[in-house]
Amino acid sequence: MQKVEANGASIPVLGLGTWTLKDAACVALVSKALSIGYRHVDTAAAYGNEEAVGEGIRASGVDREALFVTTKVWWTDIAAGDLERSAEASLERLGLDRLDLLLIHWPNPQVPLADSIRALNRMRETGLTRHIGVSNFTTALLAEAIRLSDAPLVANQVEYHPYLDQDQVWRACRAAGMAMVSYCPLARGSRLFDDPAVAGAAARHGKTPAQIVLRWHVQQEGVVAIPRTSNPARLSENADIFDFALSDAEMAAISALGAAGQRICDYDFSPAWDAA
Ligand SMILES: NC(=O)c1ccc[n+]([C@@H]2O[C@H](COP(=O)([O-])OP(=O)(O)OC[C@H]3O[C@@H](n4cnc5c(N)ncnc54)[C@H](OP(=O)(O)O)[C@@H]3O)[C@@H](O)[C@H]2O)c1
Repeated sequence: MQKVEANGASIPVLGLGTWTLKDAACVALVSKALSIGYRHVDTAAAYGNEEAVGEGIRASGVDREALFVTTKVWWTDIAAGDLERSAEASLERLGLDRLDLLLIHWPNPQVPLADSIRALNRMRETGLTRHIGVSNFTTALLAEAIRLSDAPLVANQVEYHPYLDQDQVWRACRAAGMAMVSYCPLARGSRLFDDPAVAGAAARHGKTPAQIVLRWHVQQEGVVAIPRTSNPARLSENADIFDFALSDAEMAAISALGAAGQRICDYDFSPAWDAA
């Protein structure tokens, strides 16, 4: 699988998102995904499925060294001491010796960022994780996090899909040598799939709309996508995106949809987002 090189991390460009996947269904999906070639799994303490993700990894029989496993510390747990406890509990639940990437899930204005970033660095120094990064960080927060971190941050995981322009965050990530990991990469499906820019490309390439959208992600420099599906049949559909390329015009037409500025994950604890 193609990888994004980011400050020493080699991140497979396609990962399996696991939010909402639970218990036996989660075990089966993770195991199946890895058996058909996925090499990257995204979970979080807040998803309540780390045990199942770990079980799925073991059930797949795929060599641990070939995999890239990310988990996240929830924003209420990022004070010094809490972050370490959360990360250790995640590792224990996953049943792994080490994480590949540990992220701060969301920023928390009540906690000094310097404390959280120091704790994150400690988790790397102790070997609990190979790499560290952030999620839902604006360009201003990202600049501050980069300044405060001893080790390079390797990724900012943010909402990104054709209906949300993330050019500013993308530029900030690229300038820092970081990957931008797209969550909600399919904008949760349905309406986007009927958009003429997507549906037209799907008809031209003999691909499904989901494949067109995922191809659009991975065809951008430094971008990684982590689509979720609860449907085993869609796992291979979503991974079958490496045998064709979108033209510059098709890429531009899909990117132009970003003017819609539609954000799916926006909560009362979200930071003040960058203006598009
Ligand atoms: N860092 C953060 O704050 C944050 C926030 C949100 C998400 N995430 C991560 O990002 C991952 C992905 O985001 P997401 O789960 O919110 O949204 P998403 O991947 O954009 O969309 C998932 C939805 O798309 C459908 N889908 C998937 N493949 C499809 C296909 N080939 N054809 C038609 N429909 C398809 C799924 O339905 P079926 O299940 O029926 O296939 C599901 O309803 C999450 O699972 C999580 O790991 C991170």
